[in-house]
Amino acid sequence: MFVFKAAVVGAGTMGGEIAQVFASADVPVVLKDVDQKFVDQGLEKAQQVTGAQLGRLVKKEKLTQEQADAQAEEIAGRITGTTDYDAFGDVDFVLEAVPEKMEIKQAVFEELDAVTPGHAILASNTSSLSISEMAEATSRPDKVVGFHFFYPASMMRLIEVIEGDETSPETMQVAHNFAQAIRKMPIRCAECPGFVGNRIANSAISEIWRVQEESGASYEEIDKAITDAKALPMGPFFLTDQLGLDTVLKVAQHLRDSYGDRFHVHKGMEELVAAGNLGAKTGKGFYGSDD
Ligand SMILES: NC(=O)c1ccc[n+]([C@@H]2O[C@H](COP(=O)([O-])OP(=O)(O)OC[C@H]3O[C@@H](n4cnc5c(N)ncnc54)[C@H](O)[C@@H]3O)[C@@H](O)[C@H]2O)c1
Repeated sequence: MFVFKAAVVGAGTMGGEIAQVFASADVPVVLKDVDQKFVDQGLEKAQQVTGAQLGRLVKKEKLTQEQADAQAEEIAGRITGTTDYDAFGDVDFVLEAVPEKMEIKQAVFEELDAVTPGHAILASNTSSLSISEMAEATSRPDKVVGFHFFYPASMMRLIEVIEGDETSPETMQVAHNFAQAIRKMPIRCAECPGFVGNRIANSAISEIWRVQEESGASYEEIDKAITDAKALPMGPFFLTDQLGLDTVLKVAQHLRDSYGDRFHVHKGMEELVAAGNLGAKTGKGFYGSDD
């Protein structure tokens, strides 16, 4: 099966940029959220990413400014923002990127099952949750698959293609082919909490969180030590602000609940989320919270 038209549900930190990845690989895409304000933010994010990518090509003199402008218009023209399911009747592949909560995911999968054609693959961008549990909300568990992008989706090449209990070999193959068609590098993963990437990343960041709590060092100090040592391109607290503290917290809690205390949940992060400080998307997180 070939993906002629795709959709992304949830236009937040990940959704807008994922829609841009689809559109820049020539795939028309519908971008849906619950409110026009969020749809507009997602469309704006997609335009920013396109502008930055094409701007680099202009700088390297691989494109003229006129060519870049024309390409930007074409890419933007392939993304249709919406708050309803009217344009989902002929989609071949839908990726949900709604918050990391099983109740929300299952509700979205149930709706998608009703509004998309029977052949359509229903994929989840979940960072850690069970694909099989999401599939239970549909009448087509064989066509439900994990398709996990990493942040930032336009730059990170890896996609984890996750096989639920009922996912068919054909669905795995279509998802794998689609990941390659959008110029990414798919790896096939079995279903387990956190899959591969986040299980590795969270075991390392658990230690950083413990050190911060035990030493009382500031977030800035730890980020600076890590970036000065060139251990990571970005400080982990700064990065968490960009990812969204609510999402990172949900993943950390799920890993701790699944594997035990070797996965730590940072207390300061719990407090920030409880106070509504989610990082870049609300303006305050680890950074800016003492202002
Ligand atoms: N943030 C990251 O770095 C990151 C990286 C990889 C994967 N993920 C995963 O991607 C998913 C989305 O994460 P995010 O960080 O983009 O979340 P986010 O909170 O930034 O955005 C979620 C969006 O979904 C919308 N939404 C909520 N309910 C909806 C519904 N029923 N229908 C349509 N839209 C709805 C919200 O309005 C919001 O705009 C999560 O499963 C997360 O684990 C996140």
